[in-house]
Amino acid sequence: MSNGLKGRSLLSMTDLSREELHQVLDLATLLKFQQKVGQPHHLLAGKTLGMIFEKPSTRTRVSFEAGIYQLGGMGLYLSRNDLQLGRGETIGDTARTLGRFVDIIMARVFAHKTVEDLAKYSGVPVINGLSEREHPCQILGDLLTIKEKKGKLEGLNLCFIGDGNNVCHSLLLGCAMTGINMSVAHPAGYAPLPAIVDEAQKIGEENNAVIKVVEQVVDAVGDADVIYTDVWVSMGQEENAEDKQKKFSKYQVNKNLVKLAGPKVIVMHCLPAHRGEEITDEVMDGPHSVVFDQAENRLHAQKAVMALLGAG
Ligand code: CP
Ligand code: NVA
Repeated sequence: MSNGLKGRSLLSMTDLSREELHQVLDLATLLKFQQKVGQPHHLLAGKTLGMIFEKPSTRTRVSFEAGIYQLGGMGLYLSRNDLQLGRGETIGDTARTLGRFVDIIMARVFAHKTVEDLAKYSGVPVINGLSEREHPCQILGDLLTIKEKKGKLEGLNLCFIGDGNNVCHSLLLGCAMTGINMSVAHPAGYAPLPAIVDEAQKIGEENNAVIKVVEQVVDAVGDADVIYTDVWVSMGQEENAEDKQKKFSKYQVNKNLVKLAGPKVIVMHCLPAHRGEEITDEVMDGPHSVVFDQAENRLHAQKAVMALLGAG
């Protein structure tokens, strides 16, 4: 496979160029087909993926572990508490050591700097499996899902309802890179980071994507092709939980909100969902919801990422 991604890390959506992002989506589509028809695709035969987890996970853990196996390699689950990290070994030394054993590292961490340090010191490609700042693997699976459901990305309107969190950040960058107009509606005090909004707006200008941040849900949802939401309280931010319960009740994706967008809208959620908080059962289990197709596409998108970064 000829590609310029070989040996690089994916810590932020912006670690990919626009062309490379589409290369990931195209390879993901091929690998999905091959998996469905039972065609072997051992692009990483004999390679090992080290998977560091500082936080819990269902989708990320299982999709990476199954994904590397399907590519002919193997995954090692490394929980922070089982590593010497839990007893004070530094990230730098952990990275230098793991880089001698494994071919790729995937890490789910609290501080974004941890994935940066892993990339700096390990000497192998590092994939961000969620940090407080970004969740790029999620958004690659999401863009694949939107493309499958809508037949295109450019020119669509996506509205994100809720907390300006890691998922929102990567979505802002991913939409800007692929020409999707994105509006974020958030309660006061929970806006996405201004630096990321600025960056997304600049990237958006190059790709004809309008990126907006508003406080009123009705200002965001009007002509949406996609409504996207995530939990009110992200992992590691539990100290704000009480304030959020009060402020977020108007930011629920429910039947009335979906009606504002029209019949063709799809509803997305990165999962896990807190049913009855940011999304109702009726919407999550209803005809507009694509949340489990979205979850499945994590597998295919991440296999493409691993194959491109880890090939050779
Ligand atoms: N969406 C997502 O990353 O899910 P997990 O927390 O289960 O990995
Ligand atoms: N924003 C959520 C996403 C979980 C996949 C969190 O960080 O907890």
